[in-house]
Amino acid sequence: MRRVVLGLIPILMAAQVPRTWTDAAVAELEVPLANPASSPVHISEEAYYKIPERTLHKTYPVYHPDREPAGYQQWLKEQEPQVVFAPGETPSDWVRAGEIVFNAPTSFGPVFFSAEDVRDRKFYEETGMPVAADGTIPFANWVVRKKGQVELGSMGCNTCHTRVLSDGTTVPGAQGNNPGDRQGARMLRLGARFAGEDKILERIRGFAAQFEMPWLASDPNRRARSMPLDALIAAGEAIPPGVTARSNTSMFVPPQVPDLIGVQDRRFLDHTGLVRHRGIADLMRYSTLVQDVMGFARYGDLPPRATGPGIRYSDAQLYALAIYVYSLRPPPNPHRETEQTARGREVFEREKCHVCHAPPFYTNNRLIPAPGFRPPAKHKSLYGVMDRRVDTDPRYTLETRKGTGYYKVPSLKGVWYRGPFGHNGWVMTLEEWFDPARLRDGYVASGFRTGGRVPGHEYGLKLPPGDKSALLAFLRTL
Ligand code: HEC
Ligand code: HEC
Repeated sequence: MRRVVLGLIPILMAAQVPRTWTDAAVAELEVPLANPASSPVHISEEAYYKIPERTLHKTYPVYHPDREPAGYQQWLKEQEPQVVFAPGETPSDWVRAGEIVFNAPTSFGPVFFSAEDVRDRKFYEETGMPVAADGTIPFANWVVRKKGQVELGSMGCNTCHTRVLSDGTTVPGAQGNNPGDRQGARMLRLGARFAGEDKILERIRGFAAQFEMPWLASDPNRRARSMPLDALIAAGEAIPPGVTARSNTSMFVPPQVPDLIGVQDRRFLDHTGLVRHRGIADLMRYSTLVQDVMGFARYGDLPPRATGPGIRYSDAQLYALAIYVYSLRPPPNPHRETEQTARGREVFEREKCHVCHAPPFYTNNRLIPAPGFRPPAKHKSLYGVMDRRVDTDPRYTLETRKGTGYYKVPSLKGVWYRGPFGHNGWVMTLEEWFDPARLRDGYVASGFRTGGRVPGHEYGLKLPPGDKSALLAFLRTL
């Protein structure tokens, strides 16, 4: 909200950067896991501030090979390394500095794609990697950390939280649409051919091991230990753009990438509402948690996954990043209000969608218990847990390290430019979300393929066709 950003100005002017990782704030940061004894215990304040800070170097756009300016690679080789992060005085200086952090790579080797891939026409044809109208790939960039050495950097926020619309517009912060997990699957397939199946199998099983939850009586994530390579590759290929098996999630029930535009109005972060969002410092904590220090957490008796010095964003980088994320705005909406959308708004109210998707944010910011989870009594007032159930697939919130037993009510803003929908991104379109066929056995969804029907959230499924199209037209104006 514009209001919030303006309200920050006096603080910005004084450049009062909050201290990100304090023991007190971190202790209350997260909603406990569904199995509370296994809730993560994070790295201490003292240990956090011993982690070295990330240096951010100037980055350069990556172009589709047909759109790269002549001599570009040679020119890059001649560039001096430059350290770029400098927040400055005014609020707009901070927004600009935050944009640098958002796009700053955290990885300099191949993750979803390699330096060779992004310069290979065939890679785009095979994976459908979107290209922006100006010929650039906003999901990655070239970096010069050492003169003469041009590296492909990725896994900044931009890799997952940037969307290229069908007209080539780049929308920073929107639900991403680079097919990352499919590109990763392709890399495994090629890797098996060149480096040998055993080596690749070991690598992918190592990746899958991070998702395991040994405290579950029957941990579905353990399946990866005995799955053949083809099945593991197929698991990656089942994940559409806009959904991704991020750390601490699961390859088998990966989450939808949320839209960050409007995040300042949400009280909980992640589909399971794991992380509380009490103010800007919590967004700073969230960012360093997922990018830098999640691996240092202890889960019950389970020792930390990561060792070693690690690396982290500085407090100033995180503050600038959070200010930038709060400043993000949706693209101009081509869907205007009409008689049909006015009727759709009436349907929305008549069907009581607003009870959960309450305007103006189109979420009431509350948590809903998943099937099979009994919320502790004190959670009701502490976190605003609703008595109602929506009955979507409980696995993401019961069988992953982000699982609280709840799903939050998502905001419906921006549904016209984003998708797939549902917490695992099962369906590609709103039409499909409101199609009762998805409830039937044997249904094959168009988004993340669970191998079965898409149960739950039965609201609006039985509407007469005229009401349904009016409702959808209304939703597209939000
Ligand atoms: C590898 C892909 C990836 C990268 C890189 C990434 N994210 Fe995310 N992000 C996700 C996914 C997937 C989720 C959903 C997780 C869930 O719901 O459990 C998410 C969730 C979030 C949320 C919660 C939003 C909400 O409404 O629930 C915020 C905020 C966020 N990311 C910010 C960032 C920032 C800032 C960065 C960079 C510092 C970043 N992310 C980097 C994939 C990514
Ligand atoms: C009892 C609360 C509740 C009611 C009532 C409700 N919803 Fe939802 N809605 C949710 C929850 C929770 C989710 C997330 C479900 C999931 O992904 O597991 C959701 C998801 C959605 C999504 C997908 C959003 C996305 O980004 O993936 C749409 C669209 C939606 N609802 C529209 C509606 C409409 C339209 C109505 C009325 C016909 C409605 N909802 C009624 C709670 C509710």
